[in-house]
Amino acid sequence: MFLNGPNLNLLGTREPEVYGRLTLSDIEVEVRARAAQLGAEVEFRQSNVEGELVTWIQGAKGRFDVIVLNAAAYTHTSVALRDAIAATGVPTVEIHLSNVHAREEFRHVSMIAPVCRGQICGFGVKSYILGLEAAFYVKVANK
Ligand code: DQA
Repeated sequence: MFLNGPNLNLLGTREPEVYGRLTLSDIEVEVRARAAQLGAEVEFRQSNVEGELVTWIQGAKGRFDVIVLNAAAYTHTSVALRDAIAATGVPTVEIHLSNVHAREEFRHVSMIAPVCRGQICGFGVKSYILGLEAAFYVKVANK
């Protein structure tokens, strides 16, 4: 399950010099193309509401093998998302379009990183593809 946090619905027009010109739907198309090659099923969701993301993470247990999460700004603030990931126990891959470590200092801190399997950032749309491949690796190799 791909989960996308706040303001990612604005991709395409939102700070294109940072996030590129693809919309979230364009990214979903690319993810689905790669998923088809891998034989992986993908669900793709976006919310601007922290609690909705928490509810989706809670609901992933027993339904999804892996969560690929671009928590957007909630990455840097949300104890609730972190606790949901820890509680559900579903392996989670943290992704970002931009290299958060090369940006403002407040983006260097990820509340969710310690409970995620790993972090991919800085590769634009390819962060999503690499996230999918990481999820596939986690599932197939049971790592
Ligand atoms: C982001 C990075 C975050 O710091 C930011 O708040 C976002 C997008 C990314 O994909 O690069 O909204 O998660």
